[in-house]
Amino acid sequence: MSHVLHTSGLSQRSRWAADQAISFLMQQGVENPGCISLAAGLVDEDSLPAEPVRETVVTLLSDSASARSALQYGTTQGRLDLRGSLLDYMAAQEGVPRETLGYDASRMVVTTGSQQLLSLLCETLLDPGDICIVGAPTYFVFLGCLAGVGAEPISVPLDENGMQPELLEQALARLNELGRLPQVKMIYVVSEFDNPSGVSVSLERRKAIVDIANRWSIHNRILILEDAAYRDLRFDGNPLPSLLALDGSKEQVLYTQTFSKTLSPGLRVGFGVLPKDVMKPVLDRKGNEDFGSANFPQAIVTRMLKSGAFQEHVRHVRDSYTRKRDAMLAAAEKYFADIPGVTWRRPSGGLYVWMSLPASIPTGFQSPLFQAAVKQHGVMYVPGELCFAPVQGGRPKNHMRLSYGVQTPEGITDGMWRLSRAVKQVLAG
Ligand SMILES: Cc1ncc(COP(=O)(O)O)c(C=O)c1O
Repeated sequence: MSHVLHTSGLSQRSRWAADQAISFLMQQGVENPGCISLAAGLVDEDSLPAEPVRETVVTLLSDSASARSALQYGTTQGRLDLRGSLLDYMAAQEGVPRETLGYDASRMVVTTGSQQLLSLLCETLLDPGDICIVGAPTYFVFLGCLAGVGAEPISVPLDENGMQPELLEQALARLNELGRLPQVKMIYVVSEFDNPSGVSVSLERRKAIVDIANRWSIHNRILILEDAAYRDLRFDGNPLPSLLALDGSKEQVLYTQTFSKTLSPGLRVGFGVLPKDVMKPVLDRKGNEDFGSANFPQAIVTRMLKSGAFQEHVRHVRDSYTRKRDAMLAAAEKYFADIPGVTWRRPSGGLYVWMSLPASIPTGFQSPLFQAAVKQHGVMYVPGELCFAPVQGGRPKNHMRLSYGVQTPEGITDGMWRLSRAVKQVLAG
């Protein structure tokens, strides 16, 4: 007897979650091992903190009380000592004393990476047919979360200063005319060094977005989901206050951040700051999922924040990524500047360069460019179209997300040379 589960036996939610691009992309990496991957958003192998984590774990386990506490189940909301340290961390990032943050440890939740919190928030706040406004482009795995709960993404274009407030306001006005404003529940903003565009939202725009969300909360509160995954990977310029810091009410912004990019995705510790009335349903939901993220990695992160080992490591990681970013930009200049119609952005942090090709060159998985890049030239990128919500007239198809996270500066230069040859080959027909 066959035990194959037919599609008809699956839940609506599994059908909504089917065929996510992230899985296909990960598989491409495995199937083409000879490729230089400018696709993976993984972090630099050499900068993974083996030594500081080893020292921390040895100290943690040398004391039997702290060892037992770390090896036991924790709480659904996360370790209290970690949430306390996270308040200090937030205060340092915002450049204010901890007492003036406007929230305490009861408003913080620790999650298994920030991805878990993005997913929990979609599950908790969005019904099928609800609307979440996203950037065009945006983080494609979040588009998967929205699809997974049957929510509709409506996109608002970004430029070099992030989401454009006038266009956000226009989108809300249009939805209002259509009688759909009550369905708008959230605006998703990757505030710093966006994945994939690399841009950060300027201070004026942060204020404008908070103001717009507040003013358009007519039928129900329109929450801002601020994803600050790359906040601590700033290479140039001055730090900016988060949208959360700019929200005087502290009831409009859902804030998420992660230690995956700055410390280790293997530890997979993320956290959030949530309005009081959102915390309870998120914890109820998380209770069903895991009743608390793994306690051991949380204990490690707590110690590394307290000892300063984390802060020291981040400085090292930033230096390494700055060199890699510079290698990618130098290679772009060297190999792409003479190709007409090719442009790219210079990120001030994070892991990604967003490159645009002439409109006549699609970059998708099935496109001649992707095929030539992977099969003939041995280089891989993330097709930009994955990062756009479906729109009338089709998603833009001529962009690429290039990551400098994994490769060495030499690998980046080689990968960019290979990619430029693939582009030139396709342009030549
Ligand atoms: C914008 C953004 N948000 C969230 C995440 C999730 O990371 P993690 O779950 O490891 O914290 C990522 C990972 O690539 C990301 O790029």
